[in-house]
Order: sequence, then C-alpha cells, then structure tokens
Amino acid sequence: MVGQSSTWHDLPLDDHTFILSQTMKIPAKLLNRRDFSKTALVAGAGLVCGASAARAADTFTKRIRTGVIGCGSVSHQYLPQLKKSQFVEVVSLCDIRYERAQKQGEKFQVRDTYPNFEAMLAGEPIDFLVDLTDMQQHEGINRRALSAGKHVWSEKPIANSLAAGQQLLGLATEKNVRLWGAPITVQSPQFAFMARQIASEKLGRIAAAHADYGHEGPGWSAFFYEKGGGSMPDLGVYNLTSLTGLLGPVKNVSAMVSIVTPERTVSDKGRIQVTEEDNAMILMDHGNGIISHVQSGFNYFNPHGHEGSKETRHTISIVGSQGFMGLVGYDWEPLGVDLATKDSPEIQRHVTDAQGYIWQQGAVLAAECLVTGKELLVTPEQALHVLEIITAARESSATGKQISLTSTFKWPIVS
Ligand SMILES: NC(=O)c1ccc[n+]([C@@H]2O[C@H](COP(=O)([O-])OP(=O)(O)OC[C@H]3O[C@@H](n4cnc5c(N)ncnc54)[C@H](O)[C@@H]3O)[C@@H](O)[C@H]2O)c1
Repeated sequence: MVGQSSTWHDLPLDDHTFILSQTMKIPAKLLNRRDFSKTALVAGAGLVCGASAARAADTFTKRIRTGVIGCGSVSHQYLPQLKKSQFVEVVSLCDIRYERAQKQGEKFQVRDTYPNFEAMLAGEPIDFLVDLTDMQQHEGINRRALSAGKHVWSEKPIANSLAAGQQLLGLATEKNVRLWGAPITVQSPQFAFMARQIASEKLGRIAAAHADYGHEGPGWSAFFYEKGGGSMPDLGVYNLTSLTGLLGPVKNVSAMVSIVTPERTVSDKGRIQVTEEDNAMILMDHGNGIISHVQSGFNYFNPHGHEGSKETRHTISIVGSQGFMGLVGYDWEPLGVDLATKDSPEIQRHVTDAQGYIWQQGAVLAAECLVTGKELLVTPEQALHVLEIITAARESSATGKQISLTSTFKWPIVS
C-alpha cells in the first residue's frame, strides 16, 4: 500500500495510521488523531528518515519529546540549543546528583526531573534520549534506552568497546529507532571544504596528516582519568573523527600512550589516582600509502584552556604532493582553512564563516532528522570506527604491536 515513490507527506491519514500501528505495534483502532500527531514523531521518524521524506518537515510541526540524562558541565552547552530548537520539546531531566537536574530544570523551565534513569523511563514519556553522562556510563544507559524504544543521541563514546557498540546498533535496528554519537566535526563547512579539496586532488597525492588537541585536563570530574576515560576518548576523538572523515577508514594502528600525571585533584572526588592514559600518540594507516598522526593529552600547556575558543593555530595539517592545508583553530570550532598549492603557493584563508555550525548542536540535528528525515553526515558507524582506533591504540601501546582494524564506515562523507 505504500508505493515506492510515495512520501509520508503524500499518504492519506489512514495510511499513516496503518503504518504507525504496525511500527509502534499499537492496534490501529487505538490510534486516534491526537495520538497520531503525538506518535508520528516517533514511529514516523524511522520511516521518514530517508531522502524521500524531505517534505515531511512541512507536515510535522510537532516537537520530539526529549529527555536529557546527565546535567553536568556539558548540559550547559546542550540545553540552550535543545530549548530553542523547533524540533525539540525538552520533557524531562535526570541526574544521579539530583540537585543538578533540579537546578537545570529551574533554569531551563523543564518541569519533570528524576534522580535515576529507571524513574525517568517510568515517568513522563519521552521518544528521544540525550545522554550527557560520564563516558563510562554511556554504554549501559544507551542500551537501556534503545531497549525501551527510545532514539538516542550519546556524548562520546557511544559504548566502551567496538563489540558493545555494534550490539547497540543492532538493538537500534531491531527496535526501529536511531542511535548517534558525538562529536560532529564532519558537519562543519570547514570539514566539507577540506574534503572537497582532497576529492578534487587540489593537494595532489595525499601523503600525511597531523592533528593535535590537548589542555591541562578537566578539573571537575574523576571519570576523565579513570578506566574508560582518558585523553583519547575525550579529546583525541575529535581529531580521529576529522582525519578518518577526510582520509578514509583506518587499516592499522600503532600507538604509544602514557600517564604523565599519576595523581590529580578533582572537584567531585578530591585526590585521585590517574588510571587511564593522559598522553597519547596514535599513528594510522589509511591505505594507499596515506599515514596520519593524532596526539592528545591532559598535560598540555594551553593558553586557551578547556574552553579553547580563541585558538587560531593549525590543529590539523594535511600535505600532499601538490599542496598543503591547515585547519585554523580546533576542528570542533573551526575558524577557517589555509590552503597553499603548487599553482597558488601563497597561503590563502578560506571558509571563515561557521555557516550556522556549532559543536553543541548534535542532538538538535538528530532531532531534526527524526522529525524531517534530513540525514546527518555524522554516523554511528564512523563513531564506532573511531572507538576501535582508540581501543586499538591502547592495545598497540600495551603490546608494542601494530593492530589491524575490523570496522569501517561509508566514505567519502562529503565529495
Ligand atoms: N564538559 C564539556 O565541555 C564537554 C564537551 C564536550 C563533550 N563532553 C562530554 O560530555 C560527557 C559529560 O561530560 P561533563 O563534562 O558534562 O561531565 P560532568 O561530570 O560535568 O557531568 C556528568 C553528569 O552525569 C551525571 N551522571 C553520571 N552517571 C549518571 C547516571 N547513571 N544517571 C544519571 N546521571 C548520571 C553526573 O552526576 C554528572 O552530573 C562526557 O562524555 C564528556 O566527554 C563534555
């Protein structure tokens, strides 16, 4: 009954009701028009997240019912974006440090707040979970949310291992919901510009790339320094996403990681032992002779600190037989791209306008996709490939061996 060329928008309401009843496993007779408009956001999302659904934006003026778990530092960045998005209704907040959920609830006018995830799931219904908890908590929370039929946007990492992440993706497919993870560096116009220079062979044959990101380390939470934390999943992950996005999936990884500062003082736990790397050097073989290098660390003097927005040096550089490209500022908040080629050897700056891109908008873009069908460039497959690079880097450092990777993702992202 749904012809190949039909869009969701084109279908009569009864067809919508039929599809929703099938997708949501709700008897059609129980779906009245009010339920339809509410449910369409969820069930329709799985159906309309495709090219043919672009017109759905005209139909779905409703907002997706969203819960945010984790009301710490980064929630101050996410919540203003979520609150002003036309695709989002922030329904509930949750934090095991309940006073944080309450405080953000007051600040952002969110009525329903919960002290744990089970209470949140049992409370005011949501269709979309934004997971901003500790890095080590994501896997379990994401699994529970997907099992409960919620779409998920997760801060990095999506899971603690490639195998667990792949399981989560399988679960999302089984439940007909979507899963995405930060970071979204591949969404920036500077990334697109760089990808296009490479694709059009402006730099000739690509040979090598370097990227780095570091500061003195977060001072508020211990999890950054505990097992499953570390500078790679917190900081290196941005550069790894950008370089795999630009140069393609990685075949082999060679790395050295270390702990430079074995003890730290952090706000939530006081004096702690650092048990995960705070210093990392990762070498990656992208195939076709292309080798790249990412370094990250929590012991880097950095006049721009954690917030970093005034950084203007090249944090990513890529060189080929006919040209050079340098990304100005950080890839999560780029300020431009410097390009010099054999034909035009004077460095020239390009793409100095963010064109609406900000690093805090990942969950909002995901909500937009759920409502309108507009796909993101960022994919969970790439996030899991980057996760595999991180775990392979640890293994390489521990064994002194080069580690072959098994995962991949659809590339090029921008051509
Ligand atoms: N802080 C930033 O600027 C920033 C920027 C980008 C990404 N991130 C990422 O965001 C995530 C969170 O970082 P943060 O800096 O906000 O940390 P944070 O410690 O400030 O906040 C994490 C919050 O999650 C809560 N929490 C932990 N486990 C929970 C659970 N099981 N249920 C409910 N709440 C739980 C904690 O109580 C805490 O309030 C991390 O993955 C981090 O890498 C942070």
